Amino acid sequence: MTHFEPVLLRRVGKPDSTSLEAYRADGGCAGLQKALGMDRAAVTDMVKDSGLRGRGGAGFPCGIKWTFLPKDHPGPIYLCVNGDESEPGTFNNRILMEEDPHQLLEGIAIAGYAIRAQTAYIYLRYEFGKSYRTLQRAIEEWYAAKLLGKNILGSGYSLDVYLHRGAGAYICGEETGLIESLEGKRAWPRIKPPFPAIEGLFRKPTIVNNVETLACVPHIVVRGPEWFKSLGVPADPNNPRDLGSYGPKLYCVSGHVNRPGCFELPMGITARDLIDRYAYGVWKGRKAKAVVPGGISMGFLNAAELDTPLDFNGPIKAGCLGLGTAAVIVIDDQTSMVDVLYNSCRFFAHESCGQCTPCREGTAWMQKILERIRAGRGQIRDLDLLLEIAGSMGIIPGTTICGLSDGAAWPVKNALAKFRAEFEEYITSGRRSADPLGKIGH
Ligand SMILES: Cc1cc2nc3c(=O)[nH]c(=O)nc-3n(C[C@H](O)[C@H](O)[C@H](O)COP(=O)(O)O)c2cc1C
Ligand code: SF4
Repeated sequence: MTHFEPVLLRRVGKPDSTSLEAYRADGGCAGLQKALGMDRAAVTDMVKDSGLRGRGGAGFPCGIKWTFLPKDHPGPIYLCVNGDESEPGTFNNRILMEEDPHQLLEGIAIAGYAIRAQTAYIYLRYEFGKSYRTLQRAIEEWYAAKLLGKNILGSGYSLDVYLHRGAGAYICGEETGLIESLEGKRAWPRIKPPFPAIEGLFRKPTIVNNVETLACVPHIVVRGPEWFKSLGVPADPNNPRDLGSYGPKLYCVSGHVNRPGCFELPMGITARDLIDRYAYGVWKGRKAKAVVPGGISMGFLNAAELDTPLDFNGPIKAGCLGLGTAAVIVIDDQTSMVDVLYNSCRFFAHESCGQCTPCREGTAWMQKILERIRAGRGQIRDLDLLLEIAGSMGIIPGTTICGLSDGAAWPVKNALAKFRAEFEEYITSGRRSADPLGKIGH
């Protein structure tokens, strides 16, 4: 791939990247100015035509989601910005919020205008203290410059933006859990339908979008949908369900690599290229045994699947749940997959909100079975038991309210499909971990 000029990260690392003056000097706010002079529907059409798909995990087409709002709704419409970013391995939203908060605010203001929202809430995971402080300062600058508040830039459009800090739970990132939390309640996801576009925050029509999704919007407005569509991977003509994977994408690479980091590239780079060319290869001269393609809930690629393109389609073709958040975690060939899977199960058992029995019990049982295996008391039939539990929990089998459960099940399914021999060897050799209930780290 030839050199790619960053779009979303272009201002990261520049001096004063968080000041509004510097942002405007770099051409910032041109998208907002342009959008405010356009018809609202035309702005939505631009986003729709660009093929922008949500970056929060599900990949839902952004412009199409906006059109689900009821037409001519007389009451309030809300925009919720999902900055919960709790998916293990994911840190792109944090970089965008800490390093270039004005790009996000511009995306929010354009989206707010397009969907007729007069109030937007940015929901931040509690641990993001720096994001909170940086965004708060940026919001104050926007109000002082009359870019927020009443009658923005004399357009007649008014928007207020509030920051809301969560209490630090994975489930607060699920859009209806986020809405419940914003309403001051425990973040228990709601049964859908109704979807938030019809009945969301305070039971009013609401759009929930991820931070990176909204950060793309000003660029689409300024450079045009064709530019956005010229990057990435077009839809597979043989797959009517593939909507294409367009635009720049932030890939977070972590784990056993020489240079972990967040890299901006057009959609569709392969896992191998990302690891070798951008993260400078697997550390200590080792090889990759497994790679998480998009946050732990997406499952695993094995060493033979590293040429999988990291677009919305590629990981699915390789048996993973999806591209997720494009958080790539590299696991080297000296690491036990039993330990890796235990860590994953332990995480989901801790984060399950407990509303649905298959998720609450299933995640806890899977953790306990892996504890048993790591204590040297596992049996081969435990592997089938794990698969039975994983196969019966989630939205896909239709037994739970939200997708946390599918995300908990997928690493189990993939690990046992792709690394079963290693699990069997662990059990039959009588291996045991020194600390079977302990946290695994480096
Ligand atoms: C358990 C769970 C956790 C989630 N966490 C996040 C998150 O931290 N950030 C996020 O943007 N989306 C998260 N999502 C996806 C949201 O529900 C929602 O699809 C997304 O915020 C919509 O924004 P987008 O269309 O711009 O991607 C999560 C979903 C599930 C099921
Ligand atoms: S699937 Fe799990 S996390 Fe989601 S609502 Fe049900 S119990 Fe809660």
